[in-house]
Amino acid sequence: MRLLFTGRAVRASRKFLFSPIPSRRCNRRNSTDAAAPEDPSTNLDSLARRFRQGYTAKLLRTIDLSPEGTEGITTEDDPFNASSHKKPDRNHTFSGEEDSTVVISECSHRTDSTSNLSPSILKLLNRRLYDRPNHPIYITRKLIESVFPQPTFQHYIASNPVVSTVANFDVLGFPEDHPGRSRADTYYVNKNRVLRTHTSAYQHSTFKAMRNPESAFGYTICADVFRRDSIDRSHFPVFHQMEGARLWRLPKTNAQGMQISHYQGVQRRLDIMRRNLGELGLPLGEVEDPDPNFDATTNLLQHEHYHEEVRVVVAHLKRSLETLVARIFDAAKQAGIASGHLDRSVAQEPLQVRWVEASFPFTSPSYELEVHWQGEWLELLGCGVVQQRLLHSAGVGDRMGWAWGLGVERLAMILFGIPDIRLFWSEDPRFLDQFKTGHITRFEPFSKYPACYKDVAFWTSPTSNDHDKETETETNTNPGAAAPAGGNATKASPTTSTGTAFHENDIMEIVRDVAGSLAEDVRRVDEFVHPATGRTSLCYRINYRSLERTLTNEETNWLHQEVARRLVKDLGVELR
Ligand code: PHE
Repeated sequence: MRLLFTGRAVRASRKFLFSPIPSRRCNRRNSTDAAAPEDPSTNLDSLARRFRQGYTAKLLRTIDLSPEGTEGITTEDDPFNASSHKKPDRNHTFSGEEDSTVVISECSHRTDSTSNLSPSILKLLNRRLYDRPNHPIYITRKLIESVFPQPTFQHYIASNPVVSTVANFDVLGFPEDHPGRSRADTYYVNKNRVLRTHTSAYQHSTFKAMRNPESAFGYTICADVFRRDSIDRSHFPVFHQMEGARLWRLPKTNAQGMQISHYQGVQRRLDIMRRNLGELGLPLGEVEDPDPNFDATTNLLQHEHYHEEVRVVVAHLKRSLETLVARIFDAAKQAGIASGHLDRSVAQEPLQVRWVEASFPFTSPSYELEVHWQGEWLELLGCGVVQQRLLHSAGVGDRMGWAWGLGVERLAMILFGIPDIRLFWSEDPRFLDQFKTGHITRFEPFSKYPACYKDVAFWTSPTSNDHDKETETETNTNPGAAAPAGGNATKASPTTSTGTAFHENDIMEIVRDVAGSLAEDVRRVDEFVHPATGRTSLCYRINYRSLERTLTNEETNWLHQEVARRLVKDLGVELR
C-alpha cells in the first residue's frame, strides 16, 4: 500500500519551549456543521458522526477558473475568510508541552502527549502560496483547474490546515496500523487532530456537499499538506497537493421523466459516461497501459460495481489525466524552447507516459501515472475508482466515480525548471519577479551561494551497557531505513513510544528547527556497530547553504553546534 510523496516513519520527539498563551475560542466548527446536513444511516454512520463533530477545515470556493483570469474568492463559503487574512502573525503561537494550547488559523487546540508540532513547521502555516497571484504554485494550480472546467467541476482551496484524524485517516479506510499514521511521518496537533497529510482528507466533506442536487458533478481542491520527511532538494515538510474527483449519479428516470428500474438506471448511466468519455480529447499517442487489470487480485473491482461501468470510469479517469499531463508538459516544452534550454528536436519527441497499478485505502482499482521526462520515469500522481463505502458514508451512495491526487511542486518544478523545492518559499524578488500569472516561463537561476558541509557523528544511546536498547532501536525504529509506505507499521500508532529510540525524521526535524531553509540537504554518510560494545554510531552530513546570500563561518559553526546540542538534549545521543 502506498501513500504518495511520503517519507519514513516511527517516533517523534516533542520537546518544545514556548511561552503559554491564552486559549481562544474557535467558532469555525459551528459554521461547518451548520452547512452540513445529516448523514443518512449507513454502516459508517457512527464514523460519519464522529467525523462531523471533529472536522474543522474550511473550504473556499474559487470563482476564477482560467489561468489568466481575474482573481477572486467568494467569502460566502467561508465566514472566516477575512480573519484568516487579518492576523497571520498570531496564527501560529504554540504554548508548549503537553496539556497546553496551540493556536492555528485562529482556532485553539489542546495539546497532549501525542503532539509533535515543531516551531519550524508552525512558521510555515498560512502562507497561502496557492492563492498568491504570480507565484508558480498558483500558476500551476490554475493550469490544472483549467483542465477540469466549470460547470462540471467546482474548484476549492482549503485554508485551515488542521483536520481530524477521522477525516485524514479513518473515514478513508486507513487501517489502525497504517504507517501514514505514525508520529514520525505526521504532525499531530493532539491525538484527534493532525496537520492534513493529504488533500484526500476533504473527500468526505466534498462528497457530502455534492448531495445538493444543484452541485457540480466533480471538484478539484488545493491545499498545503504536511509530512515529516527527509531534507533534500525535492522534499520539504510542507508542500501542495491537488485532488480531483468526478461522480456520476444513478438516474432514477428515463429521458421522458418516467421511473426506471435500478438496472435500467445503470444502463442509462453507462450511456452518459460513454458520452462524457467521447467528449474528452483524443488519447495520447504513447501510453503504456498493460490492460486495465481490475479483476486481478491485486487491484480489485468493488463488489457493488459492474465490470463495464468500471471500465468506462477508468477510461474517463485515465483520459482526463493524460490530457492534464499533455497540457503541463506541452507548456514546459514551450518554455524550454523559448529559453533555449530545450532543443526543438527533443521537444518534438512524443511524450511517454505509463500507468502502473497502485493501492490506496480509498480507491479500487487504483493506479499511478508516470511520465518519461529528461531521461527518467517520474511518478506524478495517484488515482482510482472511489470506494463506494466512502460515498455511502457521505450520503451519495447512488453515485460512482473517480478521484486523483498529485503533488503541485513536482509539476511546478518541471513546468518552470525550478531546481530546489525551498525556492517556492522564498521571498526573494529575484525569484518571485520571474513569474507571471498565465505565463509559463523557464526559471533563470540567480547566483548560487557556496555550500558548507559539516558532519555530526554520535552514538545512538548514551551508555555503554545498552545492547538491549540498541536492539530496540534497530527493530523498532531503524533510523534511516526507507519504508515504501512511509514507515514501520509496528510503530504506526501515534501514541507508541519507547525508551531512547528515535527515528531519522526526528533528526531532520531538529535540523529544520535550528537551520530552517538554510539546510539544503542532510544525508547519513556512515553507520557502524561497535564490535565489542554493540553500540551503533551514526554520522550525518549537513549541507548548509542559503538561497539568498553567503553564510559566514561564524553562522554555520553556530548552527552546527546548536544542531549537535539539540541532538544530545532531545534525542539523548552521545556525540563522538
Ligand atoms: N491522497 C493520495 C496521496 O497523497 C493520492 C490520491 C488521491 C490517490 C486520490 C487516489 C485518489 O498519496
